[in-house]
Amino acid sequence: MWLTSSSIGRKFVMAITGICLVLFVTFHVLMNAVALIWPTAYNQVCEFLGANWYALVASAGLAALFIIHIIYALWLTIQNRRARGNDRYKVTARQPQVEWSSKNMLVLGIVVVAFLVVHLIQFWYKMQFQEMMHHELAVLPQLNGAPIPPSFGTLFIQQAFSEVWTPIVYIIGFIALWFHMNHGFWSMLHTIGWDNNLWLNRLKSIACWWTSIVVALFIAQAIVFTVRSHSNYYSTNLELQEQYGEFWKAKGEAIIEEFQAEVAVALNNVDLNDAFAAQTAQKKFLEENGQRFVDQAAAVINGAEKQCPEIKTQVIGQLGQFKAFLEQNIQKTEQQAK
Ligand code: HEM
Repeated sequence: MWLTSSSIGRKFVMAITGICLVLFVTFHVLMNAVALIWPTAYNQVCEFLGANWYALVASAGLAALFIIHIIYALWLTIQNRRARGNDRYKVTARQPQVEWSSKNMLVLGIVVVAFLVVHLIQFWYKMQFQEMMHHELAVLPQLNGAPIPPSFGTLFIQQAFSEVWTPIVYIIGFIALWFHMNHGFWSMLHTIGWDNNLWLNRLKSIACWWTSIVVALFIAQAIVFTVRSHSNYYSTNLELQEQYGEFWKAKGEAIIEEFQAEVAVALNNVDLNDAFAAQTAQKKFLEENGQRFVDQAAAVINGAEKQCPEIKTQVIGQLGQFKAFLEQNIQKTEQQAK
């Protein structure tokens, strides 16, 4: 097939996947801007996208774009080196005009990929991946000893940018991205045969502006996120605390409802007029499931205490009583069993 068998076909694939990745990066920087201007809306977007089918399809498409772009880049580099053989380090008549980034596209790409690996471990793995796995509260990533639900994007920002090395690694990644994207545009225009006319220069200038604005925004965001994270902005801001509180309150109510539903199922076949049988079934249920509900309630209370300390009493409400009631009953059952 032309897209794989010819050199121009392979460059074409690089160009098309490159354009799509530039569009993604542009969308991404705009999304981050929401976190900058309106953090509660950013968390709503994180919740909306989450691990829903449309977000998963988009992520899979994005991963395919990255993989194709990287495989074709390696393929083209190997092909070029083979074609040039030992001459590849010789200074030829054309080389002085070739920009620094042109000769280093592969190295720049590797720096961007290295940044991406760190970045995906810090964010995607803790957000979309955890949601995909339906992880229990107890095994979610933690901040100050409390679980962070996948939709609390702002707390993941706080966690990542509280590390001293994060802004350094990110800014190195952004600079590599600037050179890589800028030269990528230039090289794409050559691939599609746009050479040496007025529009080529105009497009190059648009590409340079586009890349510079995107990268400058990323750098500004990394700086603001770092400053805010070090002052604990994302865990002290009252509007955000209210948003975290709503989540924990709903989670607490869901735990109580789930408990009631499971007890109802456990007592389904028991004759409730027979007090002994009903008590035995309740005890059995508590022995087998009580601790699980206590742990879940404890995780919610812990989340509310750490992430919305100003409003925690309204959030915890009856969950605290529910947990105390369960603990007392579990203790009683254990003592009776001895
Ligand atoms: C200040 C800089 C950045 C911040 C704060 C940031 C933040 C985030 C967050 C919160 C997510 C997780 C979204 C989710 O899974 O729900 C994410 C995902 C991602 N980011 Fe970034 N990002 C930054 C820069 C970049 C850059 C420069 C690139 C690319 C070169 C990039 C590529 C990605 C990719 C590929 C994903 C995975 C998308 C998916 O879920 O499919 N990010 N980022």
